[in-house]
Amino acid sequence: MALRALTGIKPTGEPHIGNWLGAIKPALALASTYDTFYFIADYHALNIIYDAEALRKNSLSIAATYLAFGLNPSQSVFYRQSDIPEVFELAWILACFTPKGLMNRAHSYKDAVAKNMGQGKDPDHNINMGLYSYPVLMAADILLLGAHVVPVGADQKQHVEIARDIAERINHNYGQALFTLPEPRIDNQVKTIVGLDGRKMSKSYDNTIPVFLDEKPLSKRINQIVTNSQTPDEPKDPDQSFIFALHKLLLSPQEESALRAKYQAGGMGWGQAKKDLFEALNAQLSGPRAEYQRWMADPGALEKVLGEGRDKARRQASEFLIRLRNAIGIQ
Ligand code: TRP
Repeated sequence: MALRALTGIKPTGEPHIGNWLGAIKPALALASTYDTFYFIADYHALNIIYDAEALRKNSLSIAATYLAFGLNPSQSVFYRQSDIPEVFELAWILACFTPKGLMNRAHSYKDAVAKNMGQGKDPDHNINMGLYSYPVLMAADILLLGAHVVPVGADQKQHVEIARDIAERINHNYGQALFTLPEPRIDNQVKTIVGLDGRKMSKSYDNTIPVFLDEKPLSKRINQIVTNSQTPDEPKDPDQSFIFALHKLLLSPQEESALRAKYQAGGMGWGQAKKDLFEALNAQLSGPRAEYQRWMADPGALEKVLGEGRDKARRQASEFLIRLRNAIGIQ
C-alpha cells in the first residue's frame, strides 16, 4: 500500500498565482506517488470568517479551484472538513493530551500576542480559542486519516510537528502505536513568489494576481507590475525584474535561458515583456479558468464530488475512531 499524503486548504478567499504555484500545483503532483487526501479546512477558516455567505462561497470556490487544476476525485479522497464529525471528536481527545504550554509556543499564537503587545494592547486582545487551539484541530485532521506525509508551506511546519508530538504522547501513554507519526513535507523548490511590487505575493500587500481573472483584467493586472525606467533599447538584468521572476516559473530550463538572453540583448521594452508574460500565463490558465467556471455553474456536481469524498473519508475515520475509543476506555 502506498504512503498517505494529506493536506488541508483553508478557504479564506480568491486564490492567486502564488497559491497556485506554491501550494496547489505541488500538492496535486503528489497524487502520482501517494494515496492522497485533500480537504477544505472550513472549520479552520471559521476563526476569521464570520460571514456565513462568504464562508460558504469560499468553500465551494476553493473546491472548484482544485478540481479545475486537475484534482482527480476518483484517484484522491477530496472532502470538506466539516462533513467529518470524527475530526471534532478526535480534536477533543487530542486536546486532553496537549500541554497548554505547547499551544503557548505555537508561532501563530505567539505572533498574535506579540502584535498586540507591540500596539500596547492586552496580550490576548482579539485572540479567540479557535486561534489558540488551531494546532489541535489540525492535528486531528492529520492523525484521523493516518497521514504519513503532510505537504505544507514553511509557516505550517510547526503545526505538523505539534501533531506528531501529541501523537507520540498518546502512543506512549497507552503503550501502542495508535497513531501514525506524520512528517511535514516542505517543497523547497518553490521559492517565494513575488507580487506586482516585488514583495512576496500576498493578499495583505494587495500585490496579487488572482488565478481566474478573465483575459482583460489579467493583462491589466500584469501591466501593474513595477519596473524601472529603462528604455526599450537598453539591455535588462532579468534577475532584477519582477516580470522575469514570475515568467520564469512558467518555463522549462531551456525556455528560461532563452528568455534571459532576450532581456540581456536589449531591444525589448517592459511593455513587450509584460505582453509575453501575459501570453505565457494565459496559455496555462485559460483551461483551468474554463473548468473553474463550469464547476461554479454547477454546485450540484461539486456537492456530489464532495459527498463521495466524505463517504470515503468517513469510512476510514469511523473505523479508526472505534479502535481509538476502545483503547482509551470510552465505552
Ligand atoms: N493550517 C493550514 C493552512 O493554514 C490548513 C490546514 C488545516 C492543514 N488542516 C490541515 C494543512 C491539515 C495540512 C494538514 O494552510
